[in-house]
Amino acid sequence: MPLYHDIATKIREHIAAGVYPPGARLPGVRRLSQQFGVSISTVVQAQQQLENAGLIEARPRSGYYVRRPKGPQPDPPAPSQPDLEPTPVTGQALVLQLAQAANQPDFVQLGAAVPEASFLPMRALQRSLAKVVRLQGTRAADYAFPPGLAELRHQISRRMYLSGSPVKPEHILITNGCQEAISLALRSVAKAGDIIAVESPTFYGLLQVIESLGMNALEIPTDPRTGISLPALELALEKWPVAACALIPNFSNPLGGQMPDAHKQQLADLAKRYRLKLIEDDIYGDLGFNRERPRPLHSFDAEGDSVIYCSSFSKTIAQGLRVGWMVPPESLFEEAEYLKYVTNLAAPTLPQLALADFLAHGGYERHLRQIKDRYAQQLELFTQAIGRHFPAGTKVTQPQGGFVIWLELAKGIDTLQIAQRALKRGFSIAPGQIFSATQKYRNCIRLSCALPWTARLESALHELGSWLKAEPPS
Ligand SMILES: Cc1ncc(COP(=O)(O)O)c(C=O)c1O
Repeated sequence: MPLYHDIATKIREHIAAGVYPPGARLPGVRRLSQQFGVSISTVVQAQQQLENAGLIEARPRSGYYVRRPKGPQPDPPAPSQPDLEPTPVTGQALVLQLAQAANQPDFVQLGAAVPEASFLPMRALQRSLAKVVRLQGTRAADYAFPPGLAELRHQISRRMYLSGSPVKPEHILITNGCQEAISLALRSVAKAGDIIAVESPTFYGLLQVIESLGMNALEIPTDPRTGISLPALELALEKWPVAACALIPNFSNPLGGQMPDAHKQQLADLAKRYRLKLIEDDIYGDLGFNRERPRPLHSFDAEGDSVIYCSSFSKTIAQGLRVGWMVPPESLFEEAEYLKYVTNLAAPTLPQLALADFLAHGGYERHLRQIKDRYAQQLELFTQAIGRHFPAGTKVTQPQGGFVIWLELAKGIDTLQIAQRALKRGFSIAPGQIFSATQKYRNCIRLSCALPWTARLESALHELGSWLKAEPPS
């Protein structure tokens, strides 16, 4: 029997044993050839055999992935259909109550879109932190006034260039996380009473800023796969004086959708036609499962005067560093910079120094490669577990990046009650209503999949599923 056949059998056994679950990427040919002590061409032949057998599939410029079983995948939710009416945002104080109640060491945090420590590059980051304390301690004790630390802006500029948005360091403003970037962006372009168009459902942190600034949200129908509906947005622009549209085009939170490039171009054109400002939150942009990073909406803004780009390292390196950034159009830069200064003087210096060092030397690309594969596997594991434990007919999104999924349950189920019950049992979920300005989506849940798979996690999902099965829809 040829050697490649043996290797194919071994890989097949690994797949069957769950070493490489459905959706996972196989190690590269070089790694496999070292692992099995055979030549690269033998590995290539083995992979071809497995591909012919329908067990793995090649993805362009990305390698081989374990095929998902042909079994039925849960249906994704249908596109949302909110009323096209601007409204004040209400009910967001609930989010802090839920977060505080769940913020305990042993809690299974299914409710927070926060990566558990094993998903973060902790060792390399600790090395960078120790290094900058040792070598630059005095600098770390000083303010890094806006626009922020030059070497960090230089590193971010490099990364933005790679993502398809060439931006010079001097056009980057460092912020305290993406949340502050969104807040500064909104404050730069709108005032109390103005209308802000948002995806529906959308990230509650955005709704909180809109609420705290006394602005009105206009929820726009949104497709879980492709994002905000452009015809609906245009209709809204015809009807209402919309000051800005704030959205998450790449792997949105909570739906996980990815806006196709053609839509990004149309949106940029629409913004130009209506002189609309677009606030792009690209915090999940580096976490796509395909090797090619999706382009930011910002890169489609040819004249550079429509899009305010916002992001941070909270989903990829560490949320506690509280470092993010924004790229306002040049005409708004000074305004945003001054607002940043009067709000809290500066972003913390030590995390900026550490991040600049980490981005230069810490293996960020390698970390991203590993973590993206791991998130793809996590989403698969969660989707399978939902199939096992949740009521038949539960709809589940199928994001191609990021680490959150959105579930739609039978109408009448009150997921806020379920969330409160979960807190008493040591785990959290995010009830759907916090993702809407007017508490829609009461029968929906967002789950974070950035948690290691443990018996405790499986039992939390089992318990959650059993409550949902018992819940009589009204
Ligand atoms: C879409 C989105 N934007 C912004 C934030 C806030 O990010 P940061 O921690 O960088 O302020 C989050 C965090 O959950 C998020 O999911």
